[in-house]
Amino acid sequence: MSKRPLPNHSRRKTRRAVPPDAGHDGLIAAARAAREHAHAPFSHFRVGAAVRAKSGKIFAGCNVENATYGLTLCAERVAVFKAVSEGERGFDAVAVVADTDSLTPPCGACRQILWEFCGDAEVILANLQGKVERYRMSALLPKPFDRSFL
Ligand code: THU
Repeated sequence: MSKRPLPNHSRRKTRRAVPPDAGHDGLIAAARAAREHAHAPFSHFRVGAAVRAKSGKIFAGCNVENATYGLTLCAERVAVFKAVSEGERGFDAVAVVADTDSLTPPCGACRQILWEFCGDAEVILANLQGKVERYRMSALLPKPFDRSFL
């Protein structure tokens, strides 16, 4: 996992989004396409996510809701679990796409899962209008619990 800081982060007092990077277009497009498959009959809140493996392969997922509500899976976890179940390990970027003006970040549970499999990856948030923000996982999940404690 890369600990390399992003440019533009270094002198900021607070960790804010850094500018978009054209290299993420494919990842965002995959998340956006997966969002079309969202199963969200309860919330009607459709989300797509995509993770980029260090092998270069991209795995995408959408949120899959359930009538019990609690069994709902977020798009991020679906994308990660698809990749892991295909034998992939090591990811350097994840994209999340939703139709919100204020870009939708991963929920707390997904942050924990993303840290487990992606470490301090880049997290790219985007909406359908082309607004994009980039973060590091370490900014979204400071002081994480992980295997280093076990
Ligand atoms: N959701 C995601 O899939 N990812 C997020 O980052 C936020 C929330 C889903 C879960 C649920 O199906 C719906 O959005 C409303 O919470």
